[in-house]
Amino acid sequence: MQKILILDFGSQTTQLIARRIRELDTFCEIVPYNKYPVGDDNYIIGVILSGSPYSVYDKEAFKVDLQQFRGRKPILGICYGAQFISYTLGGNVEPAGSREYGRQNLQFINKENPLFQGFDDNSQVWMSHGDTITAIPNDFECIASTETVKYAAYAAKNEKIWGVQFHPEVFHSLQGTLLLKNFVVGICGGCQDWSAASFIDTTVAELKAQVGNDKVVLGLSGGVDSSVAAVLLNKAIGKNLTCIFVDNGLLRKNEFQNVLNDYKCLGLNVIGIDAKEKFYAELAGVEEPEKKRKIIGKGFVDVFNAEAQKITDAKWLGQGTIYPDRIESLNITGKTIKSHHNVGGLPKEMKLQLCEPLKWLFKDEVRKVGRQLGMPEHLIKRHPFPGPGLGVRILGDITPEKVRILQDADDIFINGLREWKTMVDGVETSLYDQVWQAGVILLPVKSVGVMGDERTYERAVALRAVTSADAMTADWAHLPYDFLAKVSNDIINKVKGVNRVAYDISSKPPATIEWE
Ligand code: XMP
Repeated sequence: MQKILILDFGSQTTQLIARRIRELDTFCEIVPYNKYPVGDDNYIIGVILSGSPYSVYDKEAFKVDLQQFRGRKPILGICYGAQFISYTLGGNVEPAGSREYGRQNLQFINKENPLFQGFDDNSQVWMSHGDTITAIPNDFECIASTETVKYAAYAAKNEKIWGVQFHPEVFHSLQGTLLLKNFVVGICGGCQDWSAASFIDTTVAELKAQVGNDKVVLGLSGGVDSSVAAVLLNKAIGKNLTCIFVDNGLLRKNEFQNVLNDYKCLGLNVIGIDAKEKFYAELAGVEEPEKKRKIIGKGFVDVFNAEAQKITDAKWLGQGTIYPDRIESLNITGKTIKSHHNVGGLPKEMKLQLCEPLKWLFKDEVRKVGRQLGMPEHLIKRHPFPGPGLGVRILGDITPEKVRILQDADDIFINGLREWKTMVDGVETSLYDQVWQAGVILLPVKSVGVMGDERTYERAVALRAVTSADAMTADWAHLPYDFLAKVSNDIINKVKGVNRVAYDISSKPPATIEWE
């Protein structure tokens, strides 16, 4: 399969370059700056050098030997990548007087250059760099400037090398995707044949070759990633895949049964294990959030392991790991942004090898693959749900009675979101599909109320709904007042034990999505 290779020099936007190229239906892969593959590289149609937190003059600056691919592959340098190419091939780079940051407009010197096909005059781009190119190598030409940056874009005259000091991958470079398309399709000859259907065909063939007749075990969470991974593996190896789905007693109302039925309808060989009592017993009296998390995490591993070990000849552990999980854990500057947690802590004696069929996909691509595999829309559009489930939404200690109250209130809120529709861009869309994630929090306080002639002294709950792109930041969802009023009424009238409903209007940061 043809691919674009992105050499990662540690910029925070490297992943975005990959996103944009995938949107062009072209496969691409990010590798650390010094890991250009040795041996056969015929499948690589072009190389992109990313930005970097370093200056080319820094002692620790990442450097690459361009001769590994120069002259054989088209090259595009972005920001540091452009400075590095220029500096290495005989140009000059100097610190800019002040950091050049923000929106600027291109003034073309050679608009006929293939990199700028279809560009508007004064096209807006996004700059963010401390150093700047002050001279380009011999036989290179400057093809665009901005008011403050002379060499905003350059091209080699007799070679396929380009450099841009701005960031085409970010949203504020309004024709950035067009620039990447000009490079990937126009210059590198990418045929834009990467689609969910082609991914499924190739991956199923690869899984058959990788796993053969071996047995695979996989832990399902009810979430999109593990579900799609399971359906894909099932398509490749059928009954040799055993899925394990654990009820830790902290799932949403009826979720265990509903999801189990969904999985069975999809033809998965799935074992559902009711371990509610074990979790409730281990959690009794525990109030501290991190302690609750640890007990729930370890409980899952114990139950999963006990079941997995019954499949004595299993050789592989299937996981729904996706591309951002791996990029975040493998960040080359050595700073771990988010430690990736999936099923962990399997007994060593099982000696399972990892099989991660979604490891190259972004979240929205996982959804496309799921749809292509014929999975039901409610599984694919399911909101993220924390591993410790309602355990981190019951503030303080957990009892089966509190779980019952929270499940009932949460069920009313979530079903309400599914049923209430408003117009978005001319399309009727449920509130559920308009928010990133939602749920109810059971608060550790009681408050006074009045029902009929009686004074009540019962629990308060908080509704939480956020909009977000990636859960790293989030805004509280501006749900319609009429909707909130209906949900509040329904919860207070129908859920025994609750007499007050609040709506959480905090954004992340400084708050977090979950309350614990
Ligand atoms: P916060 O609360 O940190 O949540 O803003 C960000 C996202 O992560 C989910 N979350 C978890 N997921 N185990 C998980 O698997 C956890 O312990 C956990 N804590 C938070 C949260 O639901 C949101 O999607």
